[in-house]
Amino acid sequence: MRKKVIAGNWKMNMLPNEAIGFITELTPLVKSATHDVVLCVPYTDLFYALLTAQNTNIRIGAQNMSQYEKGAYTGEIAAPMLKSIGVSHVIIGHSERRQYFNETDEAVNEKVKSAFNHGLEPIVCVGETLEQREAGKVDEVITSQMQKALDGLTTEQVQKTILAYEPIWAIGTGKTASKEDANEAIKAIRNKIAEIYGQMTADSVIILYGGSVKSTNAKELFEMSDIDGGLVGGASLKVEEFSKIVNYDTQK
Ligand code: PGA
Repeated sequence: MRKKVIAGNWKMNMLPNEAIGFITELTPLVKSATHDVVLCVPYTDLFYALLTAQNTNIRIGAQNMSQYEKGAYTGEIAAPMLKSIGVSHVIIGHSERRQYFNETDEAVNEKVKSAFNHGLEPIVCVGETLEQREAGKVDEVITSQMQKALDGLTTEQVQKTILAYEPIWAIGTGKTASKEDANEAIKAIRNKIAEIYGQMTADSVIILYGGSVKSTNAKELFEMSDIDGGLVGGASLKVEEFSKIVNYDTQK
C-alpha cells in the first residue's frame, strides 16, 4: 500500500521567526500522524526550519532549485546546497514557476534529474489550465508534462518520484477539483506510468492532489483510490488548519 504524504507549500510567505513559531506549534499536533509531513519553505527559512524540526516527524523541503550543480548562475540555489543542510524534498515545476518564470518542461526534467543525483526527493507538479480543461485536454496535457518531467529517469527513480496533480484553475482560487475529477486525472497519470514503466511502478508512485485543499475537503479527497495526499498552499500557513489536514483521518 502507498503511504500518504501531506506537504505544505508556503510559497513566498513566512519570515524565519514565523517559521520557527509555526513548526514549534505544529510539532505536538502532528506527532502521531501516520502520514509523511513535509513543509516546503522559502530558502531563507530553510536553516531555521530544519533546526526547529530536528527530532520531529516534520521534514523540510525547498520550493525550487537550479538544474545546474554549481557555477556562474547568480541568484540560483543548487541541489547539493539544499542537501548539505539537510533538506529532504524539493518542489519542481510548480505552475507558478512555469507561468511566471518561464520554466520549461526541459528545465523541469533537468531539475528532477539533479534532485535525484543529489539525494533529494522531488515533488513534481503537473496540471492543466481552465482552457485546456474546457477543451477536453486534461489527460493529454498532464500525462505529457509527466512524461517530459520523468524522461530519462531509471524505473527505480520513477518509483521514488512524488507527483502532484495541481489543476491551475484550482490553485489559490478556492475552487477545488471535485474528488471524482481529481481522482480520474490522477488515474490517467498512473495509467500512463503503467504503460511506460510497468504496473508495479505505477502502483508505487505517490501522486498528490493540490489546489485549494483545506481541512473541510481533505478527507474526501485523500480517501479516493488514487489520491495519495495533498500539496497544500494557502491552508498550510495556519497551524491549526494545516494540522487538521494532516490529521484528516483521525478528526471527528
Ligand atoms: P493552494 O495552493 O492550496 O493555495 O490552492 C496549492 C499549491 O499551489 O501548491
